[in-house]
Parts: sequence; C-alpha cells; structure tokens
Amino acid sequence: MRSVALSSNESLANLLKEERRFAPPAALAAAANVTADAYAEAKADRLAFWATQARRLNWAKEPTETLDWSNPPFAKWFADGELNVAYNCVDRHVEAGLGDRVAIHFEGEPGDSRTITYAQLKDEVSRAAHALQELGVAKGDRVAIYLPMIPEAVVAMLACARVGAPHSVVFGGFSADAVSSRIQDADAKLVITADGGYRRGKPTALKPAIDEALQSCPQVEHVLVVRRTGQETAWTEGRDVWWHEITERQSAEHTPEAHAAEHPLFILYTSGTTGKPKGILHTTGGYLTQASYTHHAVFDLKPETDVYWCTADIGWVTGHSYIVYGPLANGATQVMYEGTPDTPHQGRFWEIVQKYGVTILYTAPTAIRTFMKWGDDIPAKFDLTSLRVLGSVGEPINPEAWVWYRDHIGGGRTPIVDTWWQTETGAMMITPLPGVTETKPGSAQVPLPGIAATVVDDEGHEVPNGSGGYLVLTEPWPSMLRTVWGDDQRYLDTYWSRFKDRYFAGDGAKKDEDGDIWLLGRVDDVMLVSGHNISTTEVESALVSHPQVAEAAVVGATDATTGQAIVAFVILRGSATDSAELTAELRDHVAKVLGPIAKPKRILTVSELPKTRSGKIMRRLLRDVAENRAVGDVTTLADTTVMDLIQSKLPAAP
Ligand code: WT7
Repeated sequence: MRSVALSSNESLANLLKEERRFAPPAALAAAANVTADAYAEAKADRLAFWATQARRLNWAKEPTETLDWSNPPFAKWFADGELNVAYNCVDRHVEAGLGDRVAIHFEGEPGDSRTITYAQLKDEVSRAAHALQELGVAKGDRVAIYLPMIPEAVVAMLACARVGAPHSVVFGGFSADAVSSRIQDADAKLVITADGGYRRGKPTALKPAIDEALQSCPQVEHVLVVRRTGQETAWTEGRDVWWHEITERQSAEHTPEAHAAEHPLFILYTSGTTGKPKGILHTTGGYLTQASYTHHAVFDLKPETDVYWCTADIGWVTGHSYIVYGPLANGATQVMYEGTPDTPHQGRFWEIVQKYGVTILYTAPTAIRTFMKWGDDIPAKFDLTSLRVLGSVGEPINPEAWVWYRDHIGGGRTPIVDTWWQTETGAMMITPLPGVTETKPGSAQVPLPGIAATVVDDEGHEVPNGSGGYLVLTEPWPSMLRTVWGDDQRYLDTYWSRFKDRYFAGDGAKKDEDGDIWLLGRVDDVMLVSGHNISTTEVESALVSHPQVAEAAVVGATDATTGQAIVAFVILRGSATDSAELTAELRDHVAKVLGPIAKPKRILTVSELPKTRSGKIMRRLLRDVAENRAVGDVTTLADTTVMDLIQSKLPAAP
C-alpha cells in the first residue's frame, strides 16, 4: 500500500462543501428504539453497555465475562457464555408465541413467491440440521454454501449454525476456480448448492461450477443440491444428494446444542483488491449481539409492524448480518428477492416495495445510482409511502445520490442511514441513528454507541476536525473478526501493524468541523496529483452532481508530469448525449466544485462500469485501461464482459 500524507492536504478543506442537513422526523424520534442517551450510557461504561446488549439474546449459559483482551489483538467476547444462534433466530420466537409471524416473504425472479412463518422456518432448519448430521457433518466441520437468493440459503446457514458447523458462503456468481480455492482454504467437507437460480430472466446453472471445482477438492464427501430451476443436472452417484429428498424424511424436532460464545460461526472470504482472498472468521456470541443490536438501533426495527428488505446477496457480509442473523434474531418480517432489479422491468424493486408494504429498505449506492440513471419516472409509478427508513452500505454514497434516494424513494420524508462497516467488522460501526442524528448527505457521521473510531495521520496521531487521514478503530468491538482463517500472522499484518494498538480499516476518511466522519474510499484509491492527495470518491461525487451524469468512476493513471493524472469514466443520464462540449463542461464543473487541481485530464463516456458482485467499482481494471495495459484478472466481476465493452468503445489515448 502506498503511504499518503492525507492530513497535510489543504485542498481537502475545500472538498465537498455539503451543507444540506436533515433532522429526524419528529414522530420517528419520539418513538425511536434508541435515543441519544445510548451514546452517554456507552461512553460511561462501554463494556457494561455491550454486556447489556448481549442480554438481547437467549443464552443457555449466561456469560459472566464481557471482554477478554489479555492477548491483543485476539479478542474473546462473552467467553464463558453458551448459546445456539439458530435457537436465537428461530425457536425462541416460536416459543414466545410468534410462530405465525412471517419470517420471509420470498419473491422469485420469475414471479413465484413463498411465505415462510417462523414456525415453518423452525421446522425447515430442524430438518436441515438432521440432514447435515446424517451426512456426517459434526460440530466444527466446515460447510461451503453456493446458492442463489432462495430461502434454502437462509435455512442452510441456520442449520450449520445449529449444529456448530461453520459455514463459508461463496457468491453464486463466482467461478469454479474461486469456489475451489475457497473450499480448499476452509477444508470444507460438504457443499450445499442448487441446480441453478434465476437471473436476468433466465435460469443460470450453479452445479456445473461445483462439479468442476470439486475436481481439486477430494476432501468433499457430499454435495447437497437444492432443486430450484429444474434444469438438467449432472449427477455423481454416492456423492450428490437432493436437498428435498433428504430433508423430507427428517424430523421437524431438533434439539439445539449450546455452543461456546467463541465457537466459530462462519468464514467469509473478502474479495480483496490484492493477494489471495482472506477467510474472515466470525464467532458466535459477540457477533450475534452486535448484529442484533445494530439492526434494532439503526433501522429502528419494530418487529410487530415493520416489513424489512435488504437487497444484498447472502454471499456478501451484508446478507449474513442483515438478512440472516440480525433480522431473524430480532424476529423481523422481511422480503427476500432472488433476481436483478431490471427483470422483467426497471420498476421491479418498487413493485416489490408496494406489494409487501416494505417499511425499511437497505441497499447500496451503486444500485441507487443505477435507479437515478433509469429515471425518476420509474419509482414515481409505484406507491412507496410505506417506507420510513432507508439504508445505504458498501461504498461512500455521493451526496446527489443520497438526496435522490431520500426524495424519489423516501418521498422527502425518510431518514437515510449511511452505514459504514466491513466484512471484518461483522456489523455496522459508523452510522447515523434515524431518530437521533441530524443527517448530512454523504457522511456516515458518528460511531455507534459502544464503538470507538477516529481519523489519524501517517504517524497515527488523531487529526483535528477539518482534516483528513486514515480511519482507525481504537477499541475492540463484539462482532470483530477474530483472525484470518488459518493465518494469524496475516491478521496481525493486515489490520494491526500499520498503527500501534489500533485497527487499520484501509479507508481514507476526514473529520468535518463538527467532528463527523466522511469516508473517502480505500486508501489504495487515493490519487496523488502534482503532490496533492485527491480522493477518487470526491471527484466521482463532483461528477455525479452534474445533472447529465448518472455514474462516475475515477482513477489515477501514471503521468510523466503530474505523477498521476485523473481519468474519469462516466455514464451519462438517459437524456444526455456524448459530445466534446459536454466533456469540457464536466471538466469545468469538477474544477468549480473541487478546485482546478481535481479537474480530470481525460473523461471517457462508457455505458457500463466494472463492478464486483457486491457493487464495488474495480478501479484496478479501469487503471489498466487508462494506462493502456492489458486488463488484469476479471474473475471477480459481476459481469465479465463489461471490460470488453468499455475497451471497444474507447478512443485511442492522446
Ligand atoms: C469496505 C468494506 C459493509 C458491508 C459491505 C461491504 C466500503 C462500506 C461504506 C459506507 C463508505 C463504505 C469501505 C469499507 N464501505 N460501507 N457506508 N461509506 N464506504 O463490505 O466488501 O468488506 O467492504 O466498503 O471502503 O472498507 P466489504
């Protein structure tokens, strides 16, 4: 990683002069789950605060210790406590008389739907837990899950949690190679997959990737296959087992065993811009405590009345914490959607919000910018008045996208919670609270109660308000990663060696005059132009604030005179046409918003941007294009044809 002295960057003070402010709606604030008192309470005694939050869960053996930090940075939370995660997410709600409450409204892409109550979910999880055990999965064994967005994915994860077998969910969009390296790294003995899933209006096969991956994974004993599409599927006798055949004949009663709070719950591989993927390890009690608390606090969830929808994929940590563990631990009713937002039409999301009366929506900036590009008239055709809280996650949200989200989806009424966190943090860390915080478009603002974060300079000194630097977390938190699977040294090197006793998140950030935190993207994405540090995020936001621009990705390309030169790739809004005049206007616009130093040297109009399945722009690939190199590894792209499309449209470099 390049070392950058962001704090010395005077131009930062000029960037993003965002002055719009939005107070919480009075009615929401008056009835909010969490008020400003929580900050004071956590500040007075952080560990006592988390010990209280842990009581949200049902423990088979109550913990007497909160944090064991005797061997930092290897944390143990609630270490002498015992609990079963699946029991907490399912059984206890049924025992409390809520068995008839809908847990999942499933909406398949082709239009099929299923309603699953907590009582039904309990039966399904119990049968699946028996099935895992019949197939020889014991406590501690790893299980790989490679499924589309269907309820069986939730059932499979909970069944693993129930028997104490850590799961490793791999994105359904990943290639056979990516799956195979993850199965090997975790040494999984069982794989759960499906014949296929529906995406973009047609069945897409999944099982062939597993068949191919397993050629190099001899330790896998069985493959459990869910029938989703009914497409023809190759079969290995003795190894492959149909999910429906084995689960159907199991008992719906399964006694949940209590697991130690530090028992591994799951491994999730981060895509990582460099090096081989890291298996991020999360454990049981602390993880579930923070997933549950944050879901309750940040979305102001009222489980009796809210209909919650997180549009992430379960192959992403957002799906783990805010589709499976947080919402179900809280007894929420949620929507789960299998497919893409433009199938069969660009209003599909809004049709779903209207159909189920969704009240809380959690999605990503990349999706929001896509909706902006498709046009305001599309959401306007649907009744979105049920919505009361909107969330954003995955990357910094440009102020224009934030305001568009609030106005066109939230009807100008809803608070927006811009939630900063990472696969490694397990749960939300920095975010407004919808009933408390006066929000600022583009800023994640404040650490949650019980969370300690700040911004430091190159030497690790906290920067004053109004300055930029690196985001660090200064105290351990319950849902923190415990290590990198099988590689403690990599855990130390990646997160704990850059600054003494502080967790290095890898993100650039600045504190504004009020001390609120603005995320500036990965530090690897900071450009150095004529000795000035300029964040890709801020140039992108400046471009998106122009009425003709829907989306932008900015990279620093090596430049003989300036060190790096700013190259921007933009997607225009539907109505705009590409011209030299428009490009010149966009360059001037950036200069006006951010200052002449941030003016892009080149602006290229494209129709798509290369993104990972979790919606992150792969700037590394755009840098290859900007520097006229052969494009590098594209295997983690959501759509691997995008780079060809971009390159075929480009003029020769000047
Ligand atoms: C990285 C973590 C958190 C779950 C999804 C992504 C970026 C995430 C925000 C936000 C600015 C954000 C950061 C972070 N990021 N949320 N609200 N504002 N940046 O998990 O794939 O582990 O990525 O996503 O750069 O470090 P992930």
